[in-house]
Amino acid sequence: MELQIGGVSAISLTKTYGTPLYVYDKQIILKKIQELKEAFPYARICYALKANSNIYLLKLIAQQGLGADCSNKIELELAEYAGFNLKESIFTAVNPSDEDLVKALQTGAMMNLDDLSIFYRLQKFGLPKKISFRINPGFGAGKFPGIVVGGKDVKFGMSEERAKQAYCAAKEAGIQEFGIHMMTGSCVLEESYFEELLKSIQSIAENFSQELNIHFEHINLGGGLGVPYEPEEVPLNLKRLGERIQKIYNTKSILMLEPGRYVVAESGMLLTTVNTIKNNFIGVDAGMTNLIRPALYGAYHSIVLANDLQAPKTESLMIVGPVCESTDCFAKDRPMPKIKEGNILAIQVAGAYSFAMSSQYNGRLRPSEVLLDNGLHKLIRKRETIIDLIQYEQL
Ligand SMILES: Cc1ncc(COP(=O)(O)O)c(C=O)c1O
Repeated sequence: MELQIGGVSAISLTKTYGTPLYVYDKQIILKKIQELKEAFPYARICYALKANSNIYLLKLIAQQGLGADCSNKIELELAEYAGFNLKESIFTAVNPSDEDLVKALQTGAMMNLDDLSIFYRLQKFGLPKKISFRINPGFGAGKFPGIVVGGKDVKFGMSEERAKQAYCAAKEAGIQEFGIHMMTGSCVLEESYFEELLKSIQSIAENFSQELNIHFEHINLGGGLGVPYEPEEVPLNLKRLGERIQKIYNTKSILMLEPGRYVVAESGMLLTTVNTIKNNFIGVDAGMTNLIRPALYGAYHSIVLANDLQAPKTESLMIVGPVCESTDCFAKDRPMPKIKEGNILAIQVAGAYSFAMSSQYNGRLRPSEVLLDNGLHKLIRKRETIIDLIQYEQL
């Protein structure tokens, strides 16, 4: 049996659009958004653009009523262009430029600052109506060390003590509306982690409210909702998580969430053609330039033979790309079926942090992106050409 995506044969898609090829199933994105809305009916959900910022997908997500979580000026502009309501959105940047700050001020997005020094810098350009600060509670989570964004020696957020000074400064400057933010990790599948995070942020918010006499309109738990990549991983039970969070939630503030991966990861696959077979090395035409997660974190992505899903896994193979780096390897000693030149492999759960982290290293033009919708397919980004490589260079 051949692999189908969104009601279309993967093989026929590769014949129409070539490979490597990113494909996304629209219905899965809609389902994930619906799950989030049902699990957290009491929360404001802002999609983190960094996970996948294809403008067609952004428009689709904006149409579902989500806000946006943007980390710089360009993401704010993309969100604006896609139709997100920026007044219901958030700007969280770890190290913003002046241009980022000015743009964020202009849009009216909730500004969530990473340090008191950024608040002082912001005041050169104006004061927002409301402000939030990101706190590093001293602990973190996350599937790989590279995506743990809380704890010691991590660049994100500020200590509780420094945050207190920041709220004091903001209050003295005349700001009256406040939010508070804490995100300490990405791709987390433990429900208890989100409970711990909420307890921690609530207790800090309560202290600040009493000591500084301020009220928090928003409590923001950031992103981090994980999805299963590996066969033995158990997906989050989002409905149960929503109930567990609601039980602990003891304030009148609006809860905010900034999921990125959860919305798009499982909708996407990267289709790739087998070019070279050398011993147990299967050389495909996608590389770390298209999906860097395995090279960056040692991340696991399931890979299937799209030509025959039932073929028995009799081999132990290395699935490698064409880039001149030994880290350009999607899978090591992976049980796989017998594979032939010209076969199509589908690298799964590739909707988040795949295209978004792609590069042109090694003269690798970025592939097309295609959206599937119940048997229909639409090109949502053209394959790059050599013009895209050299257009800004002096010829
Ligand atoms: C501030 C912030 N919000 C949200 C996200 C999205 O995280 P995830 O894709 O794990 O949901 C990130 C990711 O790094 C982030 O830095």
